[in-house]
Amino acid sequence: MLSVAILAAGKGTRMESSLPKVLHKISGKSLLQRVINSCVELNPDKIFVITGHKSKEVKESIPDNKKIDFIIQEPQLGTGHAIQVLCREIKNNQGKLLVLNGDVPLIKPDTLKKLLNIHDSKNADVSLITTKKKNPHGYGRVFIKGDFIERIVEEKDCNNQERLNLLINAGVYCFNWENLSQIISTLQSNNNQKEIYLTDTVSLLKNSLSLEIEDNGELQGINNRIQLSKCEEIIQNSIKEKHMLNGVTFINKASCSVSEEAKIGKDVIIEANTHIRGSTKIFNNCVIGPNTYIENSNVGLNCEISNSTIYDSQIMDHIKIGPYSHIRPKSKISSYSKIGNFVEIKNTLLEEESKVNHLSYIGDSIIGRSTNIGAGTITANFDGQKKFQTKIGKNSSIGANTVFVAPINLGESVTTGAGSVITKDSNDNSLAISRTKQINIENWERKKP
Ligand code: UD1
Ligand code: MG
Repeated sequence: MLSVAILAAGKGTRMESSLPKVLHKISGKSLLQRVINSCVELNPDKIFVITGHKSKEVKESIPDNKKIDFIIQEPQLGTGHAIQVLCREIKNNQGKLLVLNGDVPLIKPDTLKKLLNIHDSKNADVSLITTKKKNPHGYGRVFIKGDFIERIVEEKDCNNQERLNLLINAGVYCFNWENLSQIISTLQSNNNQKEIYLTDTVSLLKNSLSLEIEDNGELQGINNRIQLSKCEEIIQNSIKEKHMLNGVTFINKASCSVSEEAKIGKDVIIEANTHIRGSTKIFNNCVIGPNTYIENSNVGLNCEISNSTIYDSQIMDHIKIGPYSHIRPKSKISSYSKIGNFVEIKNTLLEEESKVNHLSYIGDSIIGRSTNIGAGTITANFDGQKKFQTKIGKNSSIGANTVFVAPINLGESVTTGAGSVITKDSNDNSLAISRTKQINIENWERKKP
């Protein structure tokens, strides 16, 4: 039997934040969610999440899952105390208990599997992951004697000599739960932090093993925002490197971010300061950016998108967008269309080969094939209470600065006069125009001051 305990009760004082530490995010997912995701891969019988500081917020951040139980640790007297509370609440302390600090978010399932395997094969009381760090500052130092761990000394309790030890405790442990529960209540808090340390268990248990792995970034703990940003960088580098090996060019890699879920095709060029978020899919041969943000959207083949923002939309093939366009949710831009400078599109279907090139707001609309929307065209879709639709048929030519007061329905091949306010539907092949005729007053003289 395998149970998991994730320590997530601490405040995270060093984060200087009103948000609990484990709810801070890297690449869109909270630290706690990441640790849970890694554990789920091991298919454990139960996952206990120990919460305390803002426990309600922490619990609500995790989607319901039958395997996850929340245990409240109140007050929070240290990592050892958290496990004391767990052992008291759960009567049946059997099998293996894998304990993870909630602030070590990059730990890989394969590494956890290695730990479980070595623990089983050596029949250990406790096995924990260690690594040698060039700069071990802040971590507990692990002292080994013969085949076993003798003790762990926290940074704050180290003397000058002990501080030189580079072997650190990663905060990931596998216990024989039965043996652990026999000694857990004897942990004391006579140390410089006056906390009950889980790390003291290694001296109380007989068979304490270290699984030393190479420091590849995976064990980075997060206690402050510098370390948070370090983890973000580690994740982002690995995501972008994966895409580069698959045929994506990043012009200025450091200025771009890509979500783990995003898919990017071959020969896509990502220009500087471009962010691909959520479940976005970008197909082959696109040029995206610079300065572009795309979230939960599909971008088809051979598109060029620059200096623009796109949310929850479908961009089909051979489309040019930008600079400075904003495509808002539920829009579909069909192939060979063009959206130009300073254009906002929302909840709109733009059919093939249509153009909205300059300074427009097109919302709640259906624009037919090969229609040209003149500069400055606005759909007035909102009467203060409800939104209404604008429909414009194919092959139409909308004059500059037309305002459509929705609901409105224009036929095919319709023309509107520049500067018209269109309030009535019109049929196929008509000209809709509504503006006062120009008068010229000859020989007009301005009043003299
Ligand atoms: C801990 C380890 C240290 C190790 C480092 C690895 C101890 C005593 N020290 O130090 O050896 O090198 O992690 O990153 O364990 N927590 C609770 N309840 C509490 C206190 C903390 O649930 O009463 C949780 C925190 O929310 C956090 C985790 O335990 O997720 C670790 O606590 P933290 O204060 O970050 O310990 P470190 O000082 O990093
Ligand atoms: Mg920590």
